[in-house]
Amino acid sequence: MAKTRLGYICTECGYKSLRPLKRCPYCGEFGTLHPEEPETARSSTGKTLARTHDTVRSVPVSQIRTDSSPRYETGISELDTVLGGGLVSDSAVLIGEDPGIGKSTLLLQVCRELSHQARVLYVSGEESASQISMRAQRLGAEEEDIYICSESDITVIASEIELLDPDVIVIDSVQTVYSPEISSAPGSVAQVREATSILVNLAKRRHAAMLIVGHVTKDGSIAGPKILEHLVDTVLYFEGEKYDSLRLLRAQKNRFGSTNEVGVFEMTEHGFREVTDPSGVFLDHSRETAGCCVTCVVEGTRAILAECQALVAGTALGTPRITSTGLDRGRLAQLMAVLDRKCGLRISGSDVYTSIVGGMKLSDPSLDLALAVTLVSSLQDKPVPSGTVVCGEISLTGEVRSVPQIEKRIREAAKLGFREFILPAASYETLLQQPAGKAAEESISRIPVKTVSGALDHLLAGWRN
Ligand code: TYD
Ligand code: MG
Repeated sequence: MAKTRLGYICTECGYKSLRPLKRCPYCGEFGTLHPEEPETARSSTGKTLARTHDTVRSVPVSQIRTDSSPRYETGISELDTVLGGGLVSDSAVLIGEDPGIGKSTLLLQVCRELSHQARVLYVSGEESASQISMRAQRLGAEEEDIYICSESDITVIASEIELLDPDVIVIDSVQTVYSPEISSAPGSVAQVREATSILVNLAKRRHAAMLIVGHVTKDGSIAGPKILEHLVDTVLYFEGEKYDSLRLLRAQKNRFGSTNEVGVFEMTEHGFREVTDPSGVFLDHSRETAGCCVTCVVEGTRAILAECQALVAGTALGTPRITSTGLDRGRLAQLMAVLDRKCGLRISGSDVYTSIVGGMKLSDPSLDLALAVTLVSSLQDKPVPSGTVVCGEISLTGEVRSVPQIEKRIREAAKLGFREFILPAASYETLLQQPAGKAAEESISRIPVKTVSGALDHLLAGWRN
Protein backbone atom coordinates (compact mmCIF):
# COMPACT_ATOMS: atom_id res chain seq x y z
CA MET A 1 0.00 0.00 0.00
CA ALA A 2 1.29 3.43 -0.87
CA LYS A 3 2.36 5.40 2.15
CA THR A 4 0.24 8.53 2.63
CA ARG A 5 2.39 11.53 3.20
CA LEU A 6 1.02 13.73 5.95
CA GLY A 7 1.19 17.45 5.52
CA TYR A 8 -0.44 20.46 7.10
CA ILE A 9 -4.11 21.36 7.22
CA CYS A 10 -5.74 24.75 7.73
CA THR A 11 -8.12 24.67 10.69
CA GLU A 12 -10.05 27.58 9.19
CA CYS A 13 -10.86 26.34 5.68
CA GLY A 14 -9.42 22.82 5.38
CA TYR A 15 -6.72 23.74 2.84
CA LYS A 16 -3.94 21.15 2.72
CA SER A 17 -0.30 21.88 2.16
CA LEU A 18 2.83 19.76 2.27
CA ARG A 19 4.87 22.56 3.76
CA PRO A 20 4.30 24.34 7.09
CA LEU A 21 3.15 27.72 5.80
CA LYS A 22 2.77 30.77 8.04
CA ARG A 23 -0.28 31.95 6.14
CA CYS A 24 -2.97 29.89 4.46
CA PRO A 25 -2.88 30.73 0.74
CA TYR A 26 -6.57 29.89 0.39
CA CYS A 27 -8.31 31.81 3.18
CA GLY A 28 -5.47 34.15 4.02
CA GLU A 29 -5.49 33.45 7.79
CA PHE A 30 -2.21 33.48 9.67
CA GLY A 31 -1.01 30.62 11.87
CA THR A 32 -3.90 28.29 11.10
CA LEU A 33 -1.92 25.49 9.41
CA HIS A 34 -1.38 22.60 11.80
CA PRO A 35 0.14 19.15 11.21
CA GLU A 36 -2.37 16.77 9.70
CA GLU A 37 -3.16 13.70 11.73
CA PRO A 38 -3.18 10.17 10.29
CA GLU A 39 -6.65 9.01 9.43
CA THR A 40 -7.88 5.61 10.40
CA ALA A 41 -8.63 2.92 7.79
CA ARG A 42 -10.54 4.46 4.97
CA SER A 43 -12.47 2.51 2.32
CA SER A 44 -10.91 2.82 -1.11
CA THR A 45 -12.90 5.19 -3.27
CA GLY A 46 -15.21 3.73 -5.85
CA LYS A 47 -15.50 0.33 -4.17
CA THR A 48 -19.09 -0.97 -3.91
CA LEU A 49 -19.97 -1.51 -0.29
CA ALA A 50 -21.60 -4.79 0.72
CA ARG A 51 -25.18 -4.46 2.04
CA THR A 52 -25.30 -4.66 5.80
CA HIS A 53 -29.03 -5.18 6.39
CA ASP A 54 -32.12 -6.17 4.40
CA THR A 55 -35.00 -4.12 5.78
CA VAL A 56 -35.35 -0.35 5.64
CA ARG A 57 -34.21 1.33 8.83
CA SER A 58 -35.07 4.95 8.07
CA VAL A 59 -38.24 6.19 9.76
CA PRO A 60 -40.76 8.76 8.45
CA VAL A 61 -40.43 11.94 10.51
CA SER A 62 -44.12 11.81 11.46
CA GLN A 63 -43.60 8.51 13.23
CA ILE A 64 -40.66 9.51 15.37
CA ARG A 65 -41.52 9.75 19.03
CA THR A 66 -40.48 13.12 20.34
CA ASP A 67 -39.93 12.69 24.00
CA SER A 68 -37.70 15.75 23.99
CA SER A 69 -34.86 15.64 26.46
CA PRO A 70 -35.72 17.22 29.81
CA ARG A 71 -34.17 20.55 30.66
CA TYR A 72 -32.57 21.57 33.92
CA GLU A 73 -33.39 25.05 35.06
CA THR A 74 -30.03 26.38 36.15
CA GLY A 75 -31.67 28.81 38.55
CA ILE A 76 -29.82 31.62 36.79
CA SER A 77 -32.54 32.99 34.54
CA GLU A 78 -30.20 35.05 32.35
CA LEU A 79 -28.31 31.86 31.51
CA ASP A 80 -31.49 29.83 31.02
CA THR A 81 -32.73 32.38 28.50
CA VAL A 82 -29.49 32.29 26.53
CA LEU A 83 -29.61 28.47 26.54
CA GLY A 84 -33.14 28.64 25.15
CA GLY A 85 -35.00 27.67 28.35
CA GLY A 86 -32.56 25.76 30.53
CA LEU A 87 -29.78 23.25 30.17
CA VAL A 88 -30.82 20.28 28.03
CA SER A 89 -29.80 16.95 29.51
CA ASP A 90 -27.60 14.96 27.11
CA SER A 91 -26.27 18.07 25.44
CA ALA A 92 -22.83 19.61 25.27
CA VAL A 93 -22.24 23.31 25.84
CA LEU A 94 -18.96 25.08 25.15
CA ILE A 95 -18.18 28.31 27.00
CA GLY A 96 -15.32 30.33 25.63
CA GLU A 97 -13.49 33.54 26.33
CA ASP A 98 -10.20 34.90 27.54
CA PRO A 99 -8.89 33.66 30.87
CA GLY A 100 -10.08 35.75 33.81
CA ILE A 101 -13.44 36.74 32.40
CA GLY A 102 -15.38 34.55 34.84
CA LYS A 103 -16.11 31.20 33.20
CA SER A 104 -15.13 29.07 36.20
CA THR A 105 -17.10 31.36 38.50
CA LEU A 106 -20.28 31.12 36.46
CA LEU A 107 -20.01 27.36 36.11
CA LEU A 108 -19.48 26.83 39.80
CA GLN A 109 -22.58 28.95 40.43
CA VAL A 110 -24.48 26.77 37.96
CA CYS A 111 -23.24 23.68 39.82
CA ARG A 112 -24.46 25.17 43.09
CA GLU A 113 -27.97 25.58 41.70
CA LEU A 114 -28.05 22.25 39.88
CA SER A 115 -26.72 20.18 42.77
CA HIS A 116 -30.20 20.35 44.33
CA GLN A 117 -31.77 18.53 41.42
CA ALA A 118 -28.94 16.49 39.90
CA ARG A 119 -25.63 14.82 40.61
CA VAL A 120 -22.92 17.23 39.57
CA LEU A 121 -19.28 16.51 38.76
CA TYR A 122 -16.82 19.38 38.38
CA VAL A 123 -13.60 18.33 36.68
CA SER A 124 -10.82 20.87 36.86
CA GLY A 125 -7.42 20.53 35.29
CA GLU A 126 -6.57 24.11 36.17
CA GLU A 127 -7.15 24.34 39.89
CA SER A 128 -6.60 21.99 42.82
CA ALA A 129 -9.55 20.67 44.82
CA SER A 130 -8.74 23.05 47.68
CA GLN A 131 -8.61 26.04 45.36
CA ILE A 132 -12.04 25.12 44.01
CA SER A 133 -13.32 24.68 47.51
CA MET A 134 -12.11 28.18 48.40
CA ARG A 135 -13.91 29.59 45.40
CA ALA A 136 -17.02 27.61 46.37
CA GLN A 137 -16.91 29.23 49.81
CA ARG A 138 -16.78 32.65 48.23
CA LEU A 139 -19.80 31.78 46.13
CA GLY A 140 -21.70 30.24 49.02
CA ALA A 141 -21.58 26.78 47.46
CA GLU A 142 -19.40 24.95 49.99
CA GLU A 143 -22.39 23.19 51.57
CA GLU A 144 -23.56 21.69 48.30
CA ASP A 145 -22.93 18.17 47.07
CA ILE A 146 -20.75 19.02 44.14
CA TYR A 147 -18.21 16.32 43.31
CA ILE A 148 -14.83 17.84 42.57
CA CYS A 149 -12.23 16.01 40.54
CA SER A 150 -8.88 17.64 39.90
CA GLU A 151 -7.62 15.60 36.94
CA SER A 152 -6.37 16.11 33.40
CA ASP A 153 -5.90 12.57 32.08
CA ILE A 154 -8.87 11.73 29.88
CA THR A 155 -8.83 8.03 30.81
CA VAL A 156 -9.07 8.88 34.52
CA ILE A 157 -11.84 11.41 33.87
CA ALA A 158 -13.78 8.89 31.76
CA SER A 159 -13.51 6.22 34.49
CA GLU A 160 -14.63 8.75 37.08
CA ILE A 161 -17.69 9.57 34.96
CA GLU A 162 -18.48 5.86 34.53
CA LEU A 163 -18.22 5.23 38.26
CA LEU A 164 -19.98 8.32 39.60
CA ASP A 165 -22.64 8.47 36.87
CA PRO A 166 -23.25 12.23 37.13
CA ASP A 167 -26.16 14.05 35.46
CA VAL A 168 -24.18 17.22 34.89
CA ILE A 169 -20.46 17.34 34.11
CA VAL A 170 -18.28 20.45 33.98
CA ILE A 171 -14.87 20.29 32.27
CA ASP A 172 -12.68 23.25 33.20
CA SER A 173 -10.91 23.59 30.81
CA VAL A 174 -10.66 21.41 27.72
CA GLN A 175 -7.18 22.74 27.02
CA THR A 176 -5.84 21.00 30.11
CA VAL A 177 -7.35 17.59 29.31
CA TYR A 178 -4.99 15.22 27.50
CA SER A 179 -5.08 11.74 26.09
CA PRO A 180 -1.93 9.69 26.83
CA GLU A 181 -2.40 7.97 23.47
CA ILE A 182 -1.65 11.13 21.53
CA SER A 183 1.91 12.34 21.54
CA SER A 184 1.23 16.05 21.10
CA ALA A 185 1.14 18.38 24.10
CA PRO A 186 -2.06 19.19 26.07
CA GLY A 187 -3.83 22.13 24.47
CA SER A 188 -2.69 21.24 20.95
CA VAL A 189 -5.31 20.97 18.24
CA ALA A 190 -5.07 17.17 18.13
CA GLN A 191 -5.41 16.80 21.90
CA VAL A 192 -8.27 19.24 22.27
CA ARG A 193 -10.22 17.69 19.42
CA GLU A 194 -9.71 14.16 20.71
CA ALA A 195 -10.57 15.08 24.31
CA THR A 196 -13.73 16.93 23.30
CA SER A 197 -15.06 14.20 21.07
CA ILE A 198 -14.42 11.49 23.69
CA LEU A 199 -16.05 13.56 26.43
CA VAL A 200 -19.05 14.61 24.36
CA ASN A 201 -19.67 11.01 23.26
CA LEU A 202 -19.39 9.77 26.79
CA ALA A 203 -21.82 12.39 28.07
CA LYS A 204 -24.35 11.68 25.32
CA ARG A 205 -24.19 7.94 25.92
CA ARG A 206 -24.88 8.46 29.61
CA HIS A 207 -27.52 11.16 29.00
CA ALA A 208 -25.58 13.71 31.00
CA ALA A 209 -25.35 17.42 30.29
CA MET A 210 -21.80 18.58 29.72
CA LEU A 211 -20.44 22.09 30.10
CA ILE A 212 -16.98 22.57 28.64
CA VAL A 213 -14.75 25.58 29.17
CA GLY A 214 -12.54 26.51 26.23
CA HIS A 215 -10.00 29.30 26.30
CA VAL A 216 -9.81 31.37 23.22
CA THR A 217 -6.56 31.68 21.36
CA LYS A 218 -5.09 35.09 20.73
CA ASP A 219 -7.05 35.53 17.52
CA GLY A 220 -10.29 35.13 19.44
CA SER A 221 -11.24 31.62 18.44
CA ILE A 222 -11.67 28.58 20.67
CA ALA A 223 -8.58 26.40 20.06
CA GLY A 224 -8.70 26.45 16.29
CA PRO A 225 -12.16 27.79 15.50
CA LYS A 226 -14.25 25.25 13.67
CA ILE A 227 -12.74 22.29 15.48
CA LEU A 228 -14.78 22.26 18.64
CA GLU A 229 -17.86 24.17 17.60
CA HIS A 230 -19.31 21.40 15.46
CA LEU A 231 -18.74 18.80 18.18
CA VAL A 232 -21.01 20.54 20.67
CA ASP A 233 -24.67 21.60 20.62
CA THR A 234 -24.30 25.08 22.02
CA VAL A 235 -21.47 27.60 21.99
CA LEU A 236 -21.58 30.48 24.45
CA TYR A 237 -19.26 33.46 24.57
CA PHE A 238 -18.71 36.07 27.24
CA GLU A 239 -18.34 39.68 26.26
CA GLY A 240 -17.08 42.53 28.34
CA GLU A 241 -13.97 44.27 29.55
CA LYS A 242 -11.89 42.27 32.00
CA TYR A 243 -11.47 45.30 34.26
CA ASP A 244 -15.12 46.23 34.19
CA SER A 245 -17.72 44.29 36.15
CA LEU A 246 -20.36 43.92 33.44
CA ARG A 247 -20.47 40.80 31.29
CA LEU A 248 -22.72 39.79 28.44
CA LEU A 249 -23.29 36.15 27.62
CA ARG A 250 -24.26 35.33 24.06
CA ALA A 251 -24.96 32.07 22.22
CA GLN A 252 -23.05 31.82 19.00
CA LYS A 253 -24.64 28.51 18.12
CA ASN A 254 -27.60 26.83 19.78
CA ARG A 255 -29.30 23.64 18.68
CA PHE A 256 -32.02 24.13 21.30
CA GLY A 257 -32.94 27.78 21.00
CA SER A 258 -32.35 31.12 19.36
CA THR A 259 -28.95 32.77 19.20
CA ASN A 260 -30.35 36.27 19.59
CA GLU A 261 -30.72 36.42 23.33
CA VAL A 262 -28.11 37.95 25.58
CA GLY A 263 -27.64 37.41 29.29
CA VAL A 264 -26.35 40.32 31.36
CA PHE A 265 -24.29 39.72 34.50
CA GLU A 266 -22.36 41.78 36.95
CA MET A 267 -19.29 40.39 38.71
CA THR A 268 -19.45 41.03 42.44
CA GLU A 269 -17.43 39.91 45.44
CA HIS A 270 -19.61 36.82 45.67
CA GLY A 271 -19.64 35.80 42.06
CA PHE A 272 -22.01 36.83 39.31
CA ARG A 273 -25.20 38.72 39.93
CA GLU A 274 -27.86 38.65 37.26
CA VAL A 275 -28.88 41.96 35.75
CA THR A 276 -32.43 41.10 34.74
CA ASP A 277 -33.30 44.69 33.87
CA PRO A 278 -30.24 45.98 32.06
CA SER A 279 -31.74 49.40 31.31
CA GLY A 280 -29.19 52.05 31.87
CA VAL A 281 -26.31 49.86 33.06
CA PHE A 282 -24.45 50.54 29.85
CA LEU A 283 -24.71 54.31 30.13
CA ASP A 284 -21.85 56.46 31.32
CA HIS A 285 -23.93 59.41 32.57
CA SER A 286 -21.20 61.84 31.70
CA ARG A 287 -23.72 64.08 30.03
CA GLU A 288 -23.20 67.09 27.89
CA THR A 289 -19.67 66.33 26.81
CA ALA A 290 -18.67 66.26 23.20
CA GLY A 291 -18.11 62.83 21.64
CA CYS A 292 -20.82 60.72 23.19
CA CYS A 293 -24.34 59.82 22.17
CA VAL A 294 -26.94 57.35 23.43
CA THR A 295 -28.65 54.85 21.14
CA CYS A 296 -31.02 51.94 21.63
CA VAL A 297 -30.26 48.48 20.26
CA VAL A 298 -32.48 45.41 20.26
CA GLU A 299 -30.83 42.23 21.52
CA GLY A 300 -33.12 39.22 21.29
CA THR A 301 -36.33 40.18 23.01
CA ARG A 302 -34.89 43.17 24.87
CA ALA A 303 -34.18 46.76 23.97
CA ILE A 304 -30.99 48.00 25.62
CA LEU A 305 -29.70 51.55 25.74
CA ALA A 306 -26.06 51.82 24.77
CA GLU A 307 -23.65 54.70 24.60
CA CYS A 308 -21.21 55.34 21.76
CA GLN A 309 -18.11 57.36 22.46
CA ALA A 310 -15.67 58.79 19.97
CA LEU A 311 -12.54 60.86 19.88
CA VAL A 312 -11.49 62.49 16.64
CA ALA A 313 -7.99 63.88 16.86
CA GLY A 314 -5.54 65.40 14.41
CA THR A 315 -3.15 62.72 13.25
CA ALA A 316 0.48 62.83 14.26
CA LEU A 317 1.45 60.23 11.68
CA GLY A 318 1.10 60.17 7.93
CA THR A 319 -1.54 57.44 8.01
CA PRO A 320 -4.50 58.13 10.27
CA ARG A 321 -5.31 55.52 12.86
CA ILE A 322 -8.82 54.06 13.30
CA THR A 323 -9.57 52.13 16.48
CA SER A 324 -12.99 50.68 17.24
CA THR A 325 -13.77 48.71 20.38
CA GLY A 326 -16.95 46.67 20.15
CA LEU A 327 -17.79 48.05 16.71
CA ASP A 328 -17.16 46.85 13.20
CA ARG A 329 -14.21 48.75 11.75
CA GLY A 330 -15.43 48.44 8.17
CA ARG A 331 -18.76 49.96 9.11
CA LEU A 332 -17.00 52.82 10.90
CA ALA A 333 -14.83 53.54 7.87
CA GLN A 334 -17.93 53.55 5.70
CA LEU A 335 -19.68 56.04 8.00
CA MET A 336 -16.63 58.30 7.96
CA ALA A 337 -16.66 58.26 4.17
CA VAL A 338 -20.38 59.13 4.10
CA LEU A 339 -19.82 62.03 6.50
CA ASP A 340 -16.95 63.33 4.36
CA ARG A 341 -18.83 63.17 1.10
CA LYS A 342 -22.39 63.97 2.12
CA CYS A 343 -21.80 66.44 4.93
CA GLY A 344 -18.63 68.11 3.67
CA LEU A 345 -16.58 67.17 6.74
CA ARG A 346 -12.98 66.00 6.96
CA ILE A 347 -12.98 63.09 9.36
CA SER A 348 -11.07 60.56 7.25
CA GLY A 349 -7.79 62.46 7.62
CA SER A 350 -7.88 62.30 11.44
CA ASP A 351 -7.16 59.64 14.04
CA VAL A 352 -10.48 58.17 15.18
CA TYR A 353 -11.06 56.17 18.35
CA THR A 354 -14.52 54.77 19.11
CA SER A 355 -15.95 52.49 21.75
CA ILE A 356 -19.15 51.31 23.39
CA VAL A 357 -19.49 51.93 27.12
CA GLY A 358 -19.36 48.72 29.18
CA GLY A 359 -17.50 46.68 26.56
CA MET A 360 -20.59 45.56 24.67
CA LYS A 361 -20.01 44.34 21.12
CA LEU A 362 -22.63 45.75 18.78
CA SER A 363 -23.47 44.94 15.21
CA ASP A 364 -27.02 46.32 15.02
CA PRO A 365 -26.99 48.71 12.01
CA SER A 366 -29.43 50.96 13.86
CA LEU A 367 -26.51 52.46 15.77
CA ASP A 368 -25.08 54.08 12.60
CA LEU A 369 -26.75 57.41 13.19
CA ALA A 370 -25.66 57.65 16.82
CA LEU A 371 -22.12 56.80 15.82
CA ALA A 372 -22.12 59.43 13.07
CA VAL A 373 -23.46 62.03 15.53
CA THR A 374 -20.76 61.03 18.05
CA LEU A 375 -18.01 61.48 15.46
CA VAL A 376 -19.23 64.92 14.39
CA SER A 377 -19.82 65.92 18.01
CA SER A 378 -16.20 65.11 18.81
CA LEU A 379 -14.82 66.67 15.62
CA GLN A 380 -16.65 69.98 16.14
CA ASP A 381 -16.45 69.81 19.93
CA LYS A 382 -20.21 70.29 20.33
CA PRO A 383 -22.04 68.12 22.86
CA VAL A 384 -25.28 66.31 22.03
CA PRO A 385 -28.08 67.68 24.24
CA SER A 386 -28.66 65.43 27.24
CA GLY A 387 -31.84 63.36 27.35
CA THR A 388 -31.60 62.45 23.66
CA VAL A 389 -31.56 58.97 22.11
CA VAL A 390 -30.54 58.58 18.47
CA CYS A 391 -31.47 55.61 16.32
CA GLY A 392 -31.19 54.90 12.59
CA GLU A 393 -29.25 53.12 9.90
CA ILE A 394 -27.33 55.23 7.40
CA SER A 395 -27.21 54.33 3.72
CA LEU A 396 -24.31 55.09 1.41
CA THR A 397 -26.26 58.05 0.08
CA GLY A 398 -26.43 59.66 3.52
CA GLU A 399 -30.11 58.89 4.03
CA VAL A 400 -31.44 57.52 7.29
CA ARG A 401 -33.08 54.12 6.85
CA SER A 402 -35.85 52.70 8.98
CA VAL A 403 -35.08 50.36 11.86
CA PRO A 404 -37.19 47.47 13.17
CA GLN A 405 -39.00 47.44 16.53
CA ILE A 406 -38.97 51.21 16.94
CA GLU A 407 -41.80 51.22 19.46
CA LYS A 408 -39.94 48.95 21.81
CA ARG A 409 -36.90 51.20 21.63
CA ILE A 410 -38.88 54.35 22.30
CA ARG A 411 -40.60 52.73 25.27
CA GLU A 412 -37.23 51.76 26.75
CA ALA A 413 -35.86 55.29 26.31
CA ALA A 414 -38.98 56.83 27.87
CA LYS A 415 -38.73 54.42 30.80
CA LEU A 416 -35.27 55.74 31.61
CA GLY A 417 -36.37 59.34 31.48
CA PHE A 418 -35.06 60.36 28.08
CA ARG A 419 -37.05 63.21 26.60
CA GLU A 420 -36.24 63.13 22.90
CA PHE A 421 -35.94 60.30 20.39
CA ILE A 422 -34.39 60.92 16.97
CA LEU A 423 -35.70 58.29 14.58
CA PRO A 424 -35.78 57.60 10.83
CA ALA A 425 -38.66 59.35 9.03
CA ALA A 426 -39.75 56.01 7.55
CA SER A 427 -40.02 54.44 11.01
CA TYR A 428 -41.99 57.50 12.18
CA GLU A 429 -44.51 56.92 9.39
CA THR A 430 -44.97 53.28 10.41
CA LEU A 431 -45.41 54.38 13.98
CA LEU A 432 -48.17 56.82 13.04
CA GLN A 433 -50.07 54.10 11.23
CA GLN A 434 -50.25 51.99 14.37
CA PRO A 435 -53.05 53.16 16.65
CA ALA A 436 -51.16 52.09 19.78
CA GLY A 437 -48.02 53.94 18.66
CA LYS A 438 -49.69 57.36 18.82
CA ALA A 439 -50.89 57.13 22.35
CA ALA A 440 -47.87 55.51 23.96
CA GLU A 441 -45.21 57.44 25.85
CA GLU A 442 -46.24 61.06 25.57
CA SER A 443 -43.32 61.99 27.80
CA ILE A 444 -40.83 61.56 24.97
CA SER A 445 -40.90 63.63 21.80
CA ARG A 446 -40.15 61.90 18.53
CA ILE A 447 -38.11 63.74 15.93
CA PRO A 448 -38.15 62.15 12.47
CA VAL A 449 -35.07 62.69 10.30
CA LYS A 450 -34.55 61.85 6.63
CA THR A 451 -30.81 62.40 6.24
CA VAL A 452 -27.73 62.34 8.41
CA SER A 453 -27.24 66.09 7.91
CA GLY A 454 -30.85 66.63 9.01
CA ALA A 455 -30.10 64.84 12.26
CA LEU A 456 -26.91 66.88 12.75
CA ASP A 457 -28.82 70.15 12.11
CA HIS A 458 -31.23 69.24 14.84
CA LEU A 459 -28.71 68.02 17.40
CA LEU A 460 -25.54 70.02 16.88
CA ALA A 461 -26.40 73.58 15.93
CA GLY A 462 -23.63 75.21 13.94
CA TRP A 463 -21.87 71.91 13.16
CA ARG A 464 -21.09 73.03 9.62
CA ASN A 465 -18.69 75.75 10.77
P1 TYD B 1 -12.56 33.10 36.91
O1 TYD B 1 -13.92 32.54 37.03
O2 TYD B 1 -11.45 32.34 37.52
O3 TYD B 1 -12.24 33.33 35.37
P2 TYD B 1 -11.95 32.25 34.22
O4 TYD B 1 -12.35 30.91 34.69
O5 TYD B 1 -12.75 32.74 33.05
O6 TYD B 1 -10.50 32.32 33.92
O7 TYD B 1 -12.62 34.55 37.59
C1 TYD B 1 -12.34 35.75 36.97
C2 TYD B 1 -12.17 36.92 37.88
O8 TYD B 1 -13.31 37.13 38.67
C3 TYD B 1 -11.02 36.82 38.82
O9 TYD B 1 -10.05 37.77 38.41
C4 TYD B 1 -11.55 37.20 40.17
C5 TYD B 1 -12.94 37.64 39.90
N1 TYD B 1 -13.93 37.18 40.92
C6 TYD B 1 -14.73 38.12 41.55
O10 TYD B 1 -14.63 39.32 41.32
N2 TYD B 1 -15.69 37.67 42.45
C7 TYD B 1 -15.84 36.35 42.75
O11 TYD B 1 -16.70 36.00 43.57
C8 TYD B 1 -14.99 35.40 42.08
C9 TYD B 1 -15.11 33.94 42.39
C10 TYD B 1 -14.07 35.85 41.17
MG1 MG C 1 -11.05 29.29 35.11
